[in-house]
Amino acid sequence: MSKALVAYFSASGVTAKMAEKLAETIGADLFEIKPETPYTKEDLDWTNKKSRSTIEMEDRNSRPAISTKVGDMEQYTTVFVGFPVWWYREPSIIDTFIESYDFHGKTIVPFATSGMSPIGDSGRNMQALAPGAKVVAGKRFPNGVSADELKKWASEYDADRM
Ligand SMILES: Cc1cc2nc3c(=O)[nH]c(=O)nc-3n(C[C@H](O)[C@H](O)[C@H](O)COP(=O)(O)O)c2cc1C
Repeated sequence: MSKALVAYFSASGVTAKMAEKLAETIGADLFEIKPETPYTKEDLDWTNKKSRSTIEMEDRNSRPAISTKVGDMEQYTTVFVGFPVWWYREPSIIDTFIESYDFHGKTIVPFATSGMSPIGDSGRNMQALAPGAKVVAGKRFPNGVSADELKKWASEYDADRM
């Protein structure tokens, strides 16, 4: 029997809400990817070339540390990974998350919130970091997306459970 995990990173709460809604509607476990050093408002200032987020996102090798750990990743066959789009892609801390586990044989399904950008190359970027997994392109949803819509979308990836 397959079991799903919804793992998410959220700097200002928008993705957190969506992740909670998704996990609840599909009956998945929920996990927060928490940065070891939380992002301050100044860190998130994308208009500042010297802000923490700008510096991290300009460096493809940046891997911000995570303070939380999934207890037993083995039990999951499908892992939904949620994040805000930062500079048209997944935040660097998502790269840290992907590199922190063995995703062999699992399906990773990215989902995102954003001001307006699509999810872009996030899925492809994540696939490169998890060669043994199947990483799909994923989808960006608007803030007000309904639980029903999320469930319908998610069921594509976990057909034998929903
Ligand atoms: C550093 C940074 C970069 C961002 N880059 C983009 C972007 O490229 N395109 C976009 O539409 N929104 C961008 N946003 C907006 C966020 O994706 C959006 O506000 C998101 O819903 C925030 O989610 P959260 O509350 O879970 O952190 C950016 C926000 C931050 C802080």
